[in-house]
Amino acid sequence: MKHLVSIEDLSKDEIIKILNKSEEFEDVALGKRKSRILESKILANLFFEPSTRTRISFETAMKKLGGEVINVSAQEASSMAKGETLADTVRVISNYCDAIVIRHPLEGAARFAAENSNVPVINAGDGAGQHPTQTLLDLYTIKKEIGRIDGTKIALVGDLKYSRTIHSLIKALTLFNTKIYLVSPPILDLPVEFIDELDGDIEKVELESVIGEVDVVYVTRIQKERFLDEEEYKKVAGSYRITIETVKRMKDDAIILHPLPRVYEIAIEVDYTKQARYFKQTFYGVPVRMSILTEVML
Ligand code: NCD
Repeated sequence: MKHLVSIEDLSKDEIIKILNKSEEFEDVALGKRKSRILESKILANLFFEPSTRTRISFETAMKKLGGEVINVSAQEASSMAKGETLADTVRVISNYCDAIVIRHPLEGAARFAAENSNVPVINAGDGAGQHPTQTLLDLYTIKKEIGRIDGTKIALVGDLKYSRTIHSLIKALTLFNTKIYLVSPPILDLPVEFIDELDGDIEKVELESVIGEVDVVYVTRIQKERFLDEEEYKKVAGSYRITIETVKRMKDDAIILHPLPRVYEIAIEVDYTKQARYFKQTFYGVPVRMSILTEVML
């Protein structure tokens, strides 16, 4: 069974295959071409944490390919309110659908769900763990907006400690011969065990020193909900922000990405610059998720 729990579940070739297939689905995502390739298939969205883009873009992707979606609400999911375990919930739901997309506050929950499921499980975020489908759409955005992934220079900015989008993306980027700059307040540094594990060209820097040379500035929200101590959060809240002044120092063809939601870390004025591609990035979530869904279901 083809689960997608961690980005390491995919080889570089498999990642490239998914990205190439996403390209073919762009016409369907835009409504220029119709497809019924997932007709009679049912996707179950099982979300134990808030989600806008991820849940809805999976739903849109599924429906535009002729499939159906069951949204298991947080309350039902925590039928769990009646004391049912996650393992039992997944065992039951996997009898009613052809794949499960799960988001859960605990790291490891998606792997655990996969072990208890009769159908493929796609991880839509497990605590501060991973978010592999976001990574695929991030890579696709870089490929489309820069023209290549190999050889690009990327600054990963913000909460590198808790952002699951970063934890997946950085692993994928090391497969593509990229230069990776880490930019974060010390409290939000990438965990050391992560750096030890990674085999890539990675350097911790101040944004100022690389802003004029990077192709991509990938910004993240401080993951407030992961902090064990509110005081720790207060120490870093508002500690970084991309403004028009930052954009002026960027290369003309460089881009700014963000998995969203954006809170304070990118000033609204930046939205109107041509470097801002984070809303385009949300669109790419649809063809990329179409590609992922067909990969695991067919
Ligand atoms: C991210 C997430 O949930 O990890 N959002 C998303 O899926 N686009 C990022 C975040 O919440 O900051």
